[in-house]
Order: sequence, then C-alpha cells, then structure tokens
Amino acid sequence: MNQKPELVPASNDRIGRRSMTSIPRKFRSILSLNDLEDAARRRLPRPLFGYVRGGVEDERAMRGNIASFENYVFVPRFCAGVNGVSAAVTLFGESWAAPFGIAPMGLCAMNGYRADLAMAKAARDNDIPMIISGSSLIPLEEIVKENPRAWFQAYVPPTADKLQALLDRAKAAGVETLVVTVDSPVGSNRENNLRAGFSSPLKPSLRLALDGLVRPRWLVGTFARTILNHGIPHFENLYAYRSVPIISGTVQREFGGRAHFNWDSFRNTRQLWAGRLIIKGILHPADAVEAVKAGAEGIIVSNHGGRQLNAAIAPLHVLPAICEAAGDVPVMLDGGIRRGTDVVTALGLGAKFVFVGRPFNYAAAIGEAEGVDYAISILKGEVVRSLAQLGVRSVDAIDPAQIVARGTLNTSVLAKDAKREYRGQQVGQ
Ligand SMILES: Cc1cc2nc3c(=O)[nH]c(=O)nc-3n(C[C@H](O)[C@H](O)[C@H](O)COP(=O)(O)O)c2cc1C
Repeated sequence: MNQKPELVPASNDRIGRRSMTSIPRKFRSILSLNDLEDAARRRLPRPLFGYVRGGVEDERAMRGNIASFENYVFVPRFCAGVNGVSAAVTLFGESWAAPFGIAPMGLCAMNGYRADLAMAKAARDNDIPMIISGSSLIPLEEIVKENPRAWFQAYVPPTADKLQALLDRAKAAGVETLVVTVDSPVGSNRENNLRAGFSSPLKPSLRLALDGLVRPRWLVGTFARTILNHGIPHFENLYAYRSVPIISGTVQREFGGRAHFNWDSFRNTRQLWAGRLIIKGILHPADAVEAVKAGAEGIIVSNHGGRQLNAAIAPLHVLPAICEAAGDVPVMLDGGIRRGTDVVTALGLGAKFVFVGRPFNYAAAIGEAEGVDYAISILKGEVVRSLAQLGVRSVDAIDPAQIVARGTLNTSVLAKDAKREYRGQQVGQ
C-alpha cells in the first residue's frame, strides 16, 4: 500500500492517533472492521453478500459470538510506562507481528478479484498467518507461492486414497501446517442463502443476472475480469483434483459426505500428515482431550462463525474450559472478533491466537490486497492501543485478572492483591 496509515509509529514512543488524511481516500468511510460490512453490502450482489454475512437458521450462534465479547470488561492499570508496546507473538515457535490471522473462507474469489491471493499477499506483507480454505476457488499451489507461510485447511475426504492424494498434494505445494475442520458433519440449514438466491454452485437465472447487473463495480472489477483472465472458477482444493465449477445449472457440488468423519479418521490423518496438524471447530472440552490424544498440535475453538448450528455455544464461553482440557497444546479461537479489545479478551481468557473471518473477506471484495492490508492495520492498531490501555507492553504480559465477566468482579480480591503488592513493595524497600 502506498499510503499506509501510521497507526503504530515506528519510533514506538507514542501510539498514533488516526487522522482522516492518513487514510487512503477510498477507505475513509471505513474506520473499523464493522464498517466493512456495509461497504461490502453496497459492492456485492445480494446472493454473494448474503452468503458471507449470514449464519445458520435464526443466526443465534452468530449473534452469540458477537455478544460473548460484550460480556467482558477490562480493569485497566495506568502509569505503567507503555513505551514500545508490541502486538507481536510467538506461536509454534514462529514469530508473527500480531496475535490474529485470516480464517479459512470458501468462495472468496467470487467476491473480490483473486481474493485468496489478495489475502495471502496482505498476510505475508503484514507478517500474520492466513489459512487457505479447502473450498477456495484458487489452487492452493498458487496461494502458497504468494505466501509460503500460509496454512491449509482441509475437509477430510471420505476415502483413504482421496485423503492420501490431497495430503500429498499439500505437501508437494510446500504446506507445513494443516488445519482439519471437523464442525460440519452435515450441510447446514442456511435459510438466508435460499432467500438471497445463493447456492453452491450458483445456478444461472434471470434473478442472478439482475443481482449482478445492479452491482457494476463487482460485475466489471471481479466477475468479468475473473472470467476473461481465468475462465469460470472451480472448487480447487477439496481434493487432489479440480472439482466442480462455481456456476452451473446441472452440476451438484461434491460435498463428499462428512458424516463419516470420526476420531479414527482424525488419527488416520495424523498418521499420514508429517507436518503440523491443527483441529478446527472444537467446542466441547472432552473433544479437546480427544484431539490432543489423537495428536492435534493445536486447537481452534470455533462454531464456524455461527454458520453450522443455530444454538452452538460461543467459542469465547467455552474457551477457558478448553484451555484447561488441552494442557500444553495451544488453543486458538475464532468467531465474532471485530475489535482489538475482542482479541485481547480472547487472549486474556487463555487463547494463544485468534482468527478473523468475514471482515477480511469484505476487505478483499472492496479493496483487494490493499483493502485487506488496511483492515489488518485497523485491527493491529486497536490491539496495540488496548494493550497500552491495559497497562502492558506485550501480549505475554496480559494479566487475566484484568479481564472480567460483567457482574462477577470480586473487587475485594483485587483489593487484597493490591494490598499484598503494596506490602511486598514495602518489604522490598
Ligand atoms: C464466507 C465464509 C466461508 C467460510 N468457509 C470456511 C471453510 O471453507 N472452511 C472452514 O473451516 N471455515 C470456513 N468458514 C468459517 C471461518 O473459518 C471462521 O470460522 C468464521 O468465519 C469466524 O467467524 P467470523 O466470521 O465472525 O470472524 C467460513 C466463513 C465464512 C464467513
């Protein structure tokens, strides 16, 4: 990006305020990740926007994810000397510039031109991880070429030979970290997709054509440009081979049936995959224990952004129990993270890292790699400010006692701690 907003000045001796002039003109209506949704609504045809935004059935789980963060408040400490505050973290022995990454999302390249590549580039430039989706429309090889540190998410195919071939392909492409998503044993009941006219693959119809025609920036900038340069996109990463096209009147998507998947399938995947293995979609502490026993090296607590089970618990609410169950295995989280304070809340409750989905999808649709880059800078700036306001200079220094569920704060405990700290200081004098 030519004109990167200086949210975190290199000198690190102050945390910058934003001014409108420091924000590229085309992004001036977007000051937070939440603002991206409206901008994407204006950019995308109704069925495509509906597919990204929506949750399952009544969207209880999706709303619950957002609400779960509202339940926590911070007890900040000041006069802490927060010069040089940094959002950097180490995960699996690798360093990243921020404690968040881009969650895997299917079909992104229907929304933004070559969107997976845009996300890969922005993630690489900002030194954060990006997870390639098993349902993406760009071959994983191309994405890994753009970003060699990208992780790959797979839905485990139903047969041993298809699984082996997919893992061989990922390994040959240079993938080191495999994420297996386990929270979709059956297709979910997304009524909003039917209402918005979305299906996968999309069925050509007059309505679909009209939905596209009233979004000329998308029609020219994403759709026509994609078709002219690359032909009709296909599902590229479900198997070792290219799968069905994204637009077809006759073809059914090979969902492959995921009901077969059980702990034996996961153990089998573990045996076949020599690289790092992460499991995504865990919500029950007992499943976390099973996952660790089966060889998972990391766990992503997730309800798929509220897109699978209407009544699913918010990941944040089950996070502490899962951290306890997982022992030393790093636990990560996604779902509903929209603010730096949300990131810090999840970290304070035990997550080692978090992922963000929809906002980065919208950012790629609106502004390609530059848009994703801008969205990353917004969230990173908020994380840095939140740390400074908490009175800490690094993610490791977050004190869980400063992040409390509303109404449960035992102020006398904080007071006792404070007295103990005071007495300790006096003894030390
Ligand atoms: C449009 C869209 C497509 C998704 N596709 C996948 C996918 O292919 N694989 C997967 O494991 N999760 C998928 N997810 C779930 C995300 O990885 C992630 O769990 C979720 O978006 C996090 O919630 P958030 O959007 O509130 O940040 C998808 C989510 C969205 C919004």
